[in-house]
Amino acid sequence: MRRKVLKGLALFAGALLVVFVALVVRAKWILNRDYSSVAHPAIAADGSVEGIKRGEMLFQSLCIECHGGADGRATGKHLEEIPAFLGTFYSANLAHPEHGVHRRSDGELARVLRAGILPDGRFSAPMSGFSGLADQDIAAILGYVRSRPPALEPAGTAQPRSEVSLLGALILTLVSGVDVQMHAPKVPMPKKAPTVEYGRYMARVMDCVGCHTEGFSHAKMEHPRAFAGGFEFTDPTGTPIWSKNITLDPETGIGRWSLDDFERAVTRGITPDGFLVRKPMPLFARLDRTDVEAIYRFLQSMPKVHNPNRPGGHPLRKARPDDSPEQLFVNVGCAACHGEGAPFRDKLLGAVNKPDADVAAWILDPQASKPGSPMPSFQNALDRAQAERLAKYVKTLARAPGG
Ligand code: HEC
Ligand code: HEC
Ligand code: HEC
Repeated sequence: MRRKVLKGLALFAGALLVVFVALVVRAKWILNRDYSSVAHPAIAADGSVEGIKRGEMLFQSLCIECHGGADGRATGKHLEEIPAFLGTFYSANLAHPEHGVHRRSDGELARVLRAGILPDGRFSAPMSGFSGLADQDIAAILGYVRSRPPALEPAGTAQPRSEVSLLGALILTLVSGVDVQMHAPKVPMPKKAPTVEYGRYMARVMDCVGCHTEGFSHAKMEHPRAFAGGFEFTDPTGTPIWSKNITLDPETGIGRWSLDDFERAVTRGITPDGFLVRKPMPLFARLDRTDVEAIYRFLQSMPKVHNPNRPGGHPLRKARPDDSPEQLFVNVGCAACHGEGAPFRDKLLGAVNKPDADVAAWILDPQASKPGSPMPSFQNALDRAQAERLAKYVKTLARAPGG
């Protein structure tokens, strides 16, 4: 009897192993196949003034977040916010003197965006999320790229290759359905207006839906808990942080926020209570009122989901006018990045020989001098006087022994 059970168990374990090996082989095949034969979409750069302007908005909102290097140009970097169990990812140096985007044809670049297939024929999971872009918007991004903007001036060295982990490969091929993306249908371009239709398009293109919906499905718009938050990230200090519920649920979502509240959170990074919206939430400073209103109207049209936000990331308190610089440093969240032992402590050294007013301007809006900087904007959390007091304080901190 006992031997029979053991034999049964062994057979079962064997079958499981076979299935597992088959899934791994399939995952590796899908991800490592040569896709060079996939046709280049017939999309040409839109070099019109409006095209370049639209392309700049899309590039700065969508691409710099991942491709923005230490100098604010699209020189690439290690993508720390992607949890390590999925693999190690390095965004490419798009400004590379020999392999940068200026050396690629419109068709090659359009294929990267449409299907996530790199110029060398490899499939790239991080680049496979743009199949929601309409042809017009791809043409606009190409128009911006061809206008030789400062962000793409040849610079930097090549980035290492990304490695997808075994678990990452299984998740990508079983749950996210990457092979489905290969045949992504053409997306119609809705007219830009404060409508639900344009809002749905933008929420897909800006990937509000990907980051604000739990799980790894490729059909997150249809997910019953779409926009209810709960996707796990790693913040710049390595602490887990979860995206928030942005359905219009009044208790656990943003149902009590006005359109102005929403605009300030999305484009300035400050919630109605005065808290900072932390990384990896991108700062969508380039979205205009129509874009933001359309996304808001679209969210209003979606089901309200009751899903309390998970606490995560560094605790944040809002700045009060009478806070001392020491208190401000902790309360508005500078300490998480620049406190003792924090990852960007030494970055304060950059301020030591600069005038207080310049340092204060940096603190209020780092993105203005360095688009894509991991340091968030504090424009609406701090007034100029507070920023100047903080500027003086961080300069002394940086000079202090052990600082
Ligand atoms: C989620 C992060 C992420 C975002 C957002 C992103 N990229 Fe990428 N991109 C990558 C990574 C990572 C690679 C490197 C390929 C790989 O390792 O999978 C890459 C590679 C590329 C390449 C191929 C470079 C080459 O020659 O091999 C191009 C072109 C590119 N990205 C353009 C863009 C554009 C344009 C945007 C904005 C619409 C964008 N990327 C947004 C992560 C990102
Ligand atoms: C790369 C992932 C990512 C993308 C893309 C993203 N978000 Fe977020 N978002 C987050 C994370 C993570 C938080 C939580 C930040 C925190 O807790 O401080 C957040 C917070 C927010 C908040 C604040 C909610 C609150 O209750 O404090 C709003 C509003 C928001 N996001 C809206 C949007 C919209 C609209 C878009 C698309 C235009 C978008 N997000 C795209 C990751 C993302
Ligand atoms: C999420 C992490 C993060 C937070 C929060 C943060 N910083 Fe920074 N800070 C950085 C990084 C990273 C740099 C280096 C510049 C870069 O790489 O973009 C920097 C640079 C600086 C500099 C040097 C600027 C220069 O001219 O070289 C100062 C000063 C500074 N931060 C002050 C502050 C203050 C004050 C706060 C709070 C109000 C703050 N930072 C919050 C990440 C952060």
